[in-house]
Amino acid sequence: MKDHAFIPYKGLNFSEEKALQQSADFHEFFDKRRSVRHFSDKPVPREIIEKIIMTASSAPSGAHKQPWVFCAVSDPQIKKQIRIAAEEEEYKSYHGRMSEEWLEDLAPMGTNEHKPFLEIVPWLIIVFKKPYDIVDGQKKQNYYVSESVGLAAGFLLAAIHNAGLVSLTHTPSPMKFLQKVLNRPENEKPFLLIPVGYPADDAEVPDISRKLAKDVIVYY
Ligand SMILES: Cc1cc2nc3c(=O)[nH]c(=O)nc-3n(C[C@H](O)[C@H](O)[C@H](O)COP(=O)(O)O)c2cc1C
Repeated sequence: MKDHAFIPYKGLNFSEEKALQQSADFHEFFDKRRSVRHFSDKPVPREIIEKIIMTASSAPSGAHKQPWVFCAVSDPQIKKQIRIAAEEEEYKSYHGRMSEEWLEDLAPMGTNEHKPFLEIVPWLIIVFKKPYDIVDGQKKQNYYVSESVGLAAGFLLAAIHNAGLVSLTHTPSPMKFLQKVLNRPENEKPFLLIPVGYPADDAEVPDISRKLAKDVIVYY
């Protein structure tokens, strides 16, 4: 086995008081994040999108394989193609593919097969997962791919919120059409479609609440 280098870890070294404040502030800030389905067409500079994506790409991943690719689409023609294909899949989902129970669970979101925001929004970020890489023509295995890409997507949503922008985690499944429209190779599988931009002036979100600490934490 060859030797591998290690470097000192430079921690943030917060006092307990500072850590308490930081964690409370972060929770308050992050609790304001909402999935938005009404977007403005106000442009977002590419530099912002790039920083947001690089934050996502700083996520941990199995064996540090970073098994992801982020396609950032601002081209109106491509956005249109994605809208048309997504609405076709969503039509089939809302008219037969989804169970009654699923449709009932979705009712509070007020969603349907119409997705005009896919064209209105300045950016669509399509997250692809890579079950394997191709290096010098050889298949190289990646590990814990969905877990890793899910974490990266979480970082992405956090970075979007931190930039004062809004997003939607969208899954117009099956999403294979994204691989085709974006001409991605066989080892890249669509994971999430995330419109990113500013909210429309009259944007509304479902009136839902989140589980409390007692419902989601078990201490031992
Ligand atoms: C994996 C995943 C898939 C989702 N797919 C869709 C979707 O296809 N369409 C949609 O309108 N919302 C979708 N959502 C958004 C959820 O409905 C939303 O996160 C949930 O209602 C909570 O609202 P909040 O994000 O504002 O807290 C999805 C969320 C997740 C995590």
